[in-house]
Amino acid sequence: MPKKLYIETVGCQMNVLDSELVVAALRKRGYELTDNTRDADTVLLNTCSVREHAEEKIYSALGRLKLAKQAHPEKIIGVIGCMAQNHKRKVFSRAPYVDLVVGPGQLHQVPDLVEKVAAGAGPQLEVSLDRKAGSRDAVERSHESFDPLRDPSMRPTPFQAYVRIQIGCDKFCTYCIVPSVRGPEQSRPPEHILAEARQLAGEGCREITLLGQTVNSYRYRTGEQSTRFSDLLTQLHDIDGLDRIKFVTNYPKDMTDDVLAAVRDLPKISKYLHVPVQSGSNRMLARMKRGYTVEDYREMYARVREWVPAAAVTSDFIVGFSGETDEDYEQTVELVRECRFKNSFIFKYSVRPGTKGAELYADDVPEEVKRRRNNHLLALQNEISEEDNQAFLGQDVEVLVEGPSKSATRAAGAAASDEAGHDAPPEDAPPAADAPQLQLVGRTMCDRIVVFTGNRRQIGQILPVTVFDANAHTLFGEVVTQHVGPEVFSLQA
Ligand code: 5AD
Ligand code: SF4
Repeated sequence: MPKKLYIETVGCQMNVLDSELVVAALRKRGYELTDNTRDADTVLLNTCSVREHAEEKIYSALGRLKLAKQAHPEKIIGVIGCMAQNHKRKVFSRAPYVDLVVGPGQLHQVPDLVEKVAAGAGPQLEVSLDRKAGSRDAVERSHESFDPLRDPSMRPTPFQAYVRIQIGCDKFCTYCIVPSVRGPEQSRPPEHILAEARQLAGEGCREITLLGQTVNSYRYRTGEQSTRFSDLLTQLHDIDGLDRIKFVTNYPKDMTDDVLAAVRDLPKISKYLHVPVQSGSNRMLARMKRGYTVEDYREMYARVREWVPAAAVTSDFIVGFSGETDEDYEQTVELVRECRFKNSFIFKYSVRPGTKGAELYADDVPEEVKRRRNNHLLALQNEISEEDNQAFLGQDVEVLVEGPSKSATRAAGAAASDEAGHDAPPEDAPPAADAPQLQLVGRTMCDRIVVFTGNRRQIGQILPVTVFDANAHTLFGEVVTQHVGPEVFSLQA
């Protein structure tokens, strides 16, 4: 009987990719996935540490697993990813029945560690060196990029894939735990990335999304040679079979003209730019140590509009950071009104022990004020998104069909959790057997979500869809049935 694995993933796209790769590695050792913890021989929680809430949810999930472990002591329970690196042994002290704690820089060891536990070796802890625990070189080496050659049969969808181009982060924004848990910024060699993308394209993958904490800071140096992010985009663009290349997340200061030129000139490169600003107040940006002023951001934003007028720009915001006054917050509101982002992810500041922010600044904005600002900014952004989406009514957009829509998926009982606030890819769930027509969801080149009625065989295709309705987050449309050429797509969507 094959062993059964249950895995739950919270957090960003990086975690989604990590889980995919861990699942693939365990499948190679004879594991099969199950969708419930009851049947599972091994339960893995792939975790996020960006906000306290994400960590507390994991401890609650562990609490729920305690009884299962008491009833079945042979069930292996593992905590992997950012919280494993952040809390290390603390996970064992809060949940002594956990068998495995493995940081994001050690994921390649998971299959061996699971086998060790199964063989009776007791609890296993594998984490990377803390940033100050050794030379940069030693710390870098302790954070290994986990990008084994991918097995096509193990990808969640055959036509889309995440590709890591960079691990870690060196920006050290004062609120952020990522540089501690994901380690120093390291760009992967371009030839590895290109080989992976070629392999994916050869297997029928049409869209890749390049992942990095600050993707546009990508730079790989060997000897005299230096590969910039724009060079990498150009090389990836040449790969036959790929139709779309997306990338997240961008750092405002590194949105250089060569990157914008690549986005403008290379048709396969998505004109979707996620460039978090975090705040509209210079006082807050300085405290956050973001490395730019609002004026710098405005200048960058104007260049984006000049080089790629149709680009869809999105942002992240933190409200209620230490010392944020009504006046600071008003400046954020002003910036949102001015930039009219396609959408924004808005977060209440969550103090992270171990960061400079926790050390230097009091978490002094009351929860109630954080909540009020969060709701207010979200309402404003939604209003803007809905207004701007009206421009698509009656237009044809080009959609890569991803799968059943969330409501179709919910009806089939699946759930996706995304602590970072980013859209998780839709779960692939079977429609009712007697319903050939189902609600499908896909995305445009600019990452706009489009819902329409179609059938299963359209999943994985790029189709023209006429938009007849829109709200803040979604365009609703109908498939254009007649044969159409690309000239029909009048709006850059
Ligand atoms: N509190 C709240 N939000 C945070 N983010 C990162 N760290 C924190 C924190 N301590 C947000 C930022 C980042 C996004 C992924 O999460 O907006 O861009
Ligand atoms: Fe965190 Fe700043 Fe790095 Fe983004 S750029 S991962 S917010 S430290």
